[in-house]
Amino acid sequence: MSGTGGGGQLWAISDLHIGYAENRALVEQMRPESDEDWLLVAGDVAETVEDIRWVLKTLAGRFAKVVWVPGNHELWTHPSDAVTLRGVARYDHLVEQCRELGVITPEDPYPVWEGPGGPVVVAPLFLLYDYSFLPSGCATKDQGLEYAHGTGVVCTDEHLLHPDPYPSREAWCRARVAETERRLAEVPEGLPLVLVNHYPLHRHPTDVLWYPEFAMWCGTMLTDDWHRRFPVHTMVYGHLHIPRTTWQDGVRFEEVSVGYPREWRKRAQPPGRLRRIVPREDEGR
Ligand SMILES: [Fe+2]
Ligand SMILES: [Fe+2]
Repeated sequence: MSGTGGGGQLWAISDLHIGYAENRALVEQMRPESDEDWLLVAGDVAETVEDIRWVLKTLAGRFAKVVWVPGNHELWTHPSDAVTLRGVARYDHLVEQCRELGVITPEDPYPVWEGPGGPVVVAPLFLLYDYSFLPSGCATKDQGLEYAHGTGVVCTDEHLLHPDPYPSREAWCRARVAETERRLAEVPEGLPLVLVNHYPLHRHPTDVLWYPEFAMWCGTMLTDDWHRRFPVHTMVYGHLHIPRTTWQDGVRFEEVSVGYPREWRKRAQPPGRLRRIVPREDEGR
C-alpha cells in the first residue's frame, strides 16, 4: 500500500503498442499505487495474441482488476501472428484469453468501482467505427475514401482488420452499437458511468488531427449523443495518440494513449504514465 490513505484508485492507459521494445519496457515497470487499484486498458496493446496475453497477464498480476477493450491493432490478422483467425472469431478468441486471465472485457457484466469517488459503473465498450466522421466536403464513405486515397492517408485496417462474418466493418460497428445501447439502457439509474472505448464516442477529439481524413477510422456518429443520454462520469478512449483532457457538454473525455516511441519522445510528460479516472485528478482524494 502507498501512504495515500488506501481505498484504491481507478487508472487508465491505452495504445501500449508493445511491439516496440521501449513500450514493452514501460509495461514491465507499470505498477499500481495500492493493492486495490484497478486499470482500464483502452486498446492497441499489440498485434499478436502472444504479446496481448503477455501484457494482460503481467498487468492482471499487479492490479486488483484489469478491464480491457480491443483496439484496431488487436483485431488485425497480422502476418506475424501465429493466430490466423479473422474478425469476430479473432475477437472471441481474445475474449477467451481474457477470461483465462481474469481480465474483464466488453462481454462481461459491467463491474462497479466501489472505492474512493465511487460507486461508478465501468462499462468497457467495443463499438468499432463506420466511416461517418467524414472529412469536410465529403458526403459519403466512398467520397471520403476517395479523398483519403488521394492524400495517401489510409488506415492499415483496410488491409488487416477483417469484419468476417459481417459484410463490412461498418455492419459490424452497427451491430455492436445496437447491442451496447441495449446494455447501457439496463444500467440501474443513478449510477454514473465510466465508458471505456478505443475510439472517442463524440467526434470533437478528432478536430485536431493533422490529417482530418483519418477521422473516418476513429468512431461513429451513432454514439454522438451518448455522453448526454447516459450519466457519463468520464469517457475514456485512445487511438488518436493525442493524450489530453477535453470537455464536451460538461462531460470529461480522457485520451489516455502512450503511442509510439517517436511520438512520446517529443512530449514533456514521462511515457507510460497512468491517468487517474476515479477519483478525478481534479478531485484529490
Ligand atoms: Fe494506437
Ligand atoms: Fe488504434
